[in-house]
Amino acid sequence: MENVIDRTVAFVKQELEGAEAGHDWFHIERVWKNSLLIAQTEECNLEVVQLAALLHDIADSKFHGGDDTVGPRKAREFMESIGLDPATIDHVVAIIENISFKGGNTNRTHQSIELDIAQDADRLDAIGAIGIIRAFHYGGFKNRTIYDPSISPKMGMSPAEYKKSDAPTINHFYEKLLLLKDRMNTETGKRIASERHQFMERFLAQFYSEWEGLA
Ligand code: ADP
Ligand code: NI
Repeated sequence: MENVIDRTVAFVKQELEGAEAGHDWFHIERVWKNSLLIAQTEECNLEVVQLAALLHDIADSKFHGGDDTVGPRKAREFMESIGLDPATIDHVVAIIENISFKGGNTNRTHQSIELDIAQDADRLDAIGAIGIIRAFHYGGFKNRTIYDPSISPKMGMSPAEYKKSDAPTINHFYEKLLLLKDRMNTETGKRIASERHQFMERFLAQFYSEWEGLA
């Protein structure tokens, strides 16, 4: 397994060369670490968990004209090229197809503890201090405004609406980041998410206070 994981790390690092800083190799490395931490308290296939964590953002649809099929296809091709067994490949691809938030209104087409773990690991990196930085970095990358009190957050968006939204970055907290703590799958994920959530709440309180010229 060591060799499989090493080869996957090398492949992912190479594929993500020059990626947007919120979805680069370091995001993958953090998600990988989170997934190993969560996996300690779950009965699971560690090879599948790690492969999913490492390959989940290999070609994010946000950076491929909205095409959701590039990532799963690239991941499958890579896993075939290193000779992994078909059951492992199918499982990892199913996780990659189901891991993403996409507005939060899509149903899973696959269920497994390995998906639960990889999804929690990815979600933890979307919240807390790093989550705040990633949101504003992505907002800057897309030339979004930071905050506009006249544009309200839009709840319950469809995947298509969510994809093409160009709302201010603060809205993303209400549309996704603050919703994640109640959507965690595992006990370890829930515990860590609740701390990171509180940190975002404190950040937002300070932000509004400064915005109003109060602090
Ligand atoms: P997922 O891959 O789970 O569907 P997203 O596509 O929402 O997640 O994006 C992953 C990360 O990219 C978010 O957690 C956030 O940091 C950043 N991001 C995505 N969309 C936005 C947005 N509209 N505003 C700010 N940040 C965003
Ligand atoms: Ni991710």
